[in-house]
Amino acid sequence: MMAFPTDRPRRLRINPSVRSLVRENRLSPAQLVLPLFVTHGTGKTEPIPSMPDVFRHSVDRLQRIVDEAMSSGIKSVLLFGIPETKDEVGTSALDPGGPVPAAVRMLKKDFPGLVVMTDVCIDEYTTHGHCGLVRDNRVDNDSTLECLSGMALVHAQAGADIVAPSDMMDGRVQAIRKRLDQKGFQDTLILSYAVKYASSFYGPFRDAMMSGPRFGDRSSYQMDPANRREAFREASLDIEEGADILMVKPALPYLDILRDLANRHDLPLCAYQVSGEYSTLMAAGKEGWIDIDRAILETLTSIRRAGASMIITYFAIRAARLLAQSDLT
Ligand code: PBG
Repeated sequence: MMAFPTDRPRRLRINPSVRSLVRENRLSPAQLVLPLFVTHGTGKTEPIPSMPDVFRHSVDRLQRIVDEAMSSGIKSVLLFGIPETKDEVGTSALDPGGPVPAAVRMLKKDFPGLVVMTDVCIDEYTTHGHCGLVRDNRVDNDSTLECLSGMALVHAQAGADIVAPSDMMDGRVQAIRKRLDQKGFQDTLILSYAVKYASSFYGPFRDAMMSGPRFGDRSSYQMDPANRREAFREASLDIEEGADILMVKPALPYLDILRDLANRHDLPLCAYQVSGEYSTLMAAGKEGWIDIDRAILETLTSIRRAGASMIITYFAIRAARLLAQSDLT
């Protein structure tokens, strides 16, 4: 048995070069995904009060931020849409002229090499703000599947590389895979929000998207934060249904779940550092209570360490720039 004074872990921390040599996990801009809020109309760059430095962009105003992202080494974006009209059944989610399909067409044309992902969920497109169709005051699973697969098809037809269902209806990955394959979109990937918890950390996002539920909450479809074993079941079902990548969301409060899935499954794992994670760090940084730049790199590195191959984060561009001056890559 070796022990002190022979064994001294501090030798491995003696200087930055040695620390870099033995570092177990690295973070690269190519592993970061930038979420973008795309709004209807033109000439719009709207600030979001609860998410400092994040904006809603109309399609004609997207170029600049995507240029910034790509020149800092980011290769993928995830699009969310704010439509002009909403109704009970989310009709505007199926509009090929809506903000998301229009943005996909523009980005695929102007930014070769960019991976374009789209959020597939109807909450932003419905007047009630739920992620599924409402029948008798309940969110109805099976009738929602048609709507979701139709929306995924519209995105694929516009040229999306990856569709990402975030609704948490049962069977939606299967419904989307089937519909895409029938129409010849075998190569469109599905990134499934497989393990999505009913979280308070989505608050600022609902502000940004004007998409909070008008009655009740999302607990009848999103997962109970107290549950761990249920995550295995959700992940296994989505794998059987044809998911290509699995997501855990939110990220930091659920690192144990990420690690569990990394140990158990072979699919690439994605983590979503959600709006509330972003805004709490930004607020503490603004007060001077934490060093925000260090906190960004520390949280993202921790998410990688827990097992994520890729991370969706509103800090993507800032983090990529910080990484360029660090030895963490
Ligand atoms: C649902 C959706 C939500 C988020 C992504 N997709 C909100 C919700 O489930 O209430 C949250 C993302 C974030 O908080 O950054 N379409």
